[in-house]
Amino acid sequence: MINSFAAPHAYGKAAQDKIFGANAAAVAAAAKFGADKVTNGTIGAIMDDEGKLVCLPTVEKVYRDLPTNELIAYAPIAGLPEFLEGVLTATFGNSRPKAHMAAIATAGGSGVLHHAIWNYTKEDDTVITSDWYWGPYKVLCRDMNRSLDVYKMLTEDGKYNVAALEAKVKEVFAKQDNLLLIINTPAHNPTGYSLTDEDLAAVIKILNDVTAGTSKKAILLLDVAYIDFAGEKEEVRTIFKGLANLPENILGIIAYSMSKGFTMYGQRTGAMIGVSASEAVIEEFKEINQYTSRATWSNINRPAMRTLATIYQDATLLHKTEEERDFYYKMIKARADIFVKEAKEVGLPMIPYVAGFFLSIPAADPDAICEKLHDDNIFVVPLAAGVRVALCSIPLSKIPGMAAKINAAMKAVEGK
Ligand SMILES: Cc1ncc(COP(=O)(O)O)c(C=O)c1O
Repeated sequence: MINSFAAPHAYGKAAQDKIFGANAAAVAAAAKFGADKVTNGTIGAIMDDEGKLVCLPTVEKVYRDLPTNELIAYAPIAGLPEFLEGVLTATFGNSRPKAHMAAIATAGGSGVLHHAIWNYTKEDDTVITSDWYWGPYKVLCRDMNRSLDVYKMLTEDGKYNVAALEAKVKEVFAKQDNLLLIINTPAHNPTGYSLTDEDLAAVIKILNDVTAGTSKKAILLLDVAYIDFAGEKEEVRTIFKGLANLPENILGIIAYSMSKGFTMYGQRTGAMIGVSASEAVIEEFKEINQYTSRATWSNINRPAMRTLATIYQDATLLHKTEEERDFYYKMIKARADIFVKEAKEVGLPMIPYVAGFFLSIPAADPDAICEKLHDDNIFVVPLAAGVRVALCSIPLSKIPGMAAKINAAMKAVEGK
């Protein structure tokens, strides 16, 4: 019997998503033992303290009030102009860098990653990110016949590991001309870590030192999917000031997503923002990335774009949206505060958590620890280097005691 029709480049590909697998196990346990007995720390979406999926009320109202035309009509491939203007404000706040820039609409932050990998690296190139990373980075690279390599994100004392990045950048540049570096900050998934402005300046210096005066080019992609849950609005945006006066060999790309900031995960809306010292580079950015949009998904979700545009054109709506977001930011922070305090008390090691949906615990055998935690009806996600806890989805009442249980599971498994 014929058992495959796949073309060679597609043959054997299978996305094994550990996150959805862990969630399925949690859902099965909730059906068996009752939801109140089960802690589901697998979901990357905000659930309130009653366990309900959150939609920001103002976002919902604006979306539901849209006229039918706005719900169903095609949008321009580049995106609605009012959306693109709103996205620049939403992304940069008061820290819009003085540089040439343009935004195009994408299918979420994922769409930005797709276009950046496709249009700024070539087949067999290596893309770089940190050793703690969001799994789909690798899936995206592999699907386009690129590979993903990593550097150690943190030093022993929990600082951003500039030296490890520098070594990896040099190693990869030795064999290729374009280098795409993906950095997920602030409120990194899966650890909740954020780079400081000085860290980002050091990153840009490394890329500049290696490329200046050569034909090599660096593409620095800042994935800011969690920026609206990363801390005080303007403080977390000062990193963007570092993109002013980028050297000509460095192109900045920002992956903006409405998934978390607008609680519109399934609406698949985001934007790709290019920042450069060169007008020509930005003209090219618009052309080649719109072309890839046309070739990948055509145009994207009009009502989600209109929702953002409407909110950003109305100061009252924006203020309400920001207040509602802040309420949920504080809800997640309250959970984190308890977990982090208890982790310290019981001696559970943690990657330094600044803010965001997730925190991570480094571990030698994450799969076994997650399996062991099922005895306590706790479900979290095993990653290559540790265990990820989705604070965004665990009600506050279920947080006390979690760190101790994870610590006990770790000791049982690793015999520490
Ligand atoms: C680190 C990171 N980047 C980007 C995204 C992109 O999300 P979306 O494609 O839904 O905008 C996510 C979503 O989970 C993420 O965790």
